Amino acid sequence: MILVTGGAGFIGSNFVLEWFHHYDESILNIDKLTYAGNLSNLASLKDDTRHIFVRADINDSARVDALLAQYQPRALIHFAAESHVDRSIHGPADFIETNIVGTFRLLESTRAYWRSLPDEKQQTFRFLHVSTDEVYGSLGADDPAFSETTPYAPNSPYSASKAASDHLVRAYYHTYGLPVLTTNCSNNYGPRQFPEKLIPLMIVNALSGKPLPIYGDGQNVRDWLYVGDHCAAIRAVLARGHIGEVYNIGGNAEMTNIDVVHTLCRILQELRPGKIYTEQITFIKDRLGHDRRYAIDASKIRDTIGWRPEETFVSGLTRTARWYLDNEAWLNAVTDKTYQQWIDLRYAQE
Ligand code: NAD
Ligand code: TYD
Repeated sequence: MILVTGGAGFIGSNFVLEWFHHYDESILNIDKLTYAGNLSNLASLKDDTRHIFVRADINDSARVDALLAQYQPRALIHFAAESHVDRSIHGPADFIETNIVGTFRLLESTRAYWRSLPDEKQQTFRFLHVSTDEVYGSLGADDPAFSETTPYAPNSPYSASKAASDHLVRAYYHTYGLPVLTTNCSNNYGPRQFPEKLIPLMIVNALSGKPLPIYGDGQNVRDWLYVGDHCAAIRAVLARGHIGEVYNIGGNAEMTNIDVVHTLCRILQELRPGKIYTEQITFIKDRLGHDRRYAIDASKIRDTIGWRPEETFVSGLTRTARWYLDNEAWLNAVTDKTYQQWIDLRYAQE
């Protein structure tokens, strides 16, 4: 079996669900179930004995050690993290605790487990660390896209904590020989994303007649990748990646935020006509330290592993919007009191 951390979150749950479309191998899913973790993401696996869910914190080393010894996974995919830049600005402590200390503890547990394995299993074991393009910092309009050798220059507490975790993973390979792989991916979107991030927040607000809050001048650029394409890339790197290597993953879909929101409004207009959604767009005060542009050069993973994205931005965004329209119960459940508290904290004074 494989072990997944953070498998009740957005990307992790999509990864777990899709895994079983491709393989019959079991998954041990360890998740703390923070505000971002949601077991209803995995409801369709309720009676599937291949999926074993354990509510646990990656910082709880005794628990993780016991689970590794009991289930003997052949690989570990590390998704668990605090993942929202705006929350890291309001309260960085959890980001340090989970993303840095948690990854360190997980590496320590994994190293002890890996060393206990027979030679042959040590050689095939993999620790795949799921990271972000934000570790590379911010690009100017004409700069070349991030490659795997771009120097790290993180600017937010979130990206700094992810950068620190990437460095620890790298060090465990160089120092102890732990067979690691690291992926740095651009902005994901798709089903089951918590509506604090740009695209699901805009869907929720558009449908409920609320303002669509764009930070600053709306000209910040992100590269967007459909979550299913990211999951396929992770499966490909797990199967064919070279240990100790880093792979950048991107969608070849650079867009300004204002263009993203206009495209989304157009799609919603077709799927749920009746309102002119663009009329809800409002510009609000910029995010502190807001990175201007991210762009990914994904030629390494394409040329050495043979992965490339299948969805275009419009096809992926249409699938995403349709999913949110079809899953009102999911949306109502996650937009609860604690969600509203965050929205009030972030947007009330704007
Ligand atoms: P998410 O916030 O939706 O999910 C994170 C999951 O981790 C949640 O289920 C949460 O309960 C769990 N978790 C948090 N702290 C934990 C802890 N201490 N122990 C165990 N579980 C814990 O995040 P996501 O968007 O699915 O991102 C997953 C990973 O991918 C993260 O490492 C993130 O940095 C990386 N990533 C995300 C994006 C993106 O656009 N969302 C892009 C590139 C990389
Ligand atoms: P986000 O989804 O938070 O991802 P990240 O900060 O990791 O790139 O934000 C994507 C872009 O959208 C980013 O430039 C900030 C911007 N944004 C807004 O303009 N308004 C919003 O309400 C949010 C959440 C984000």
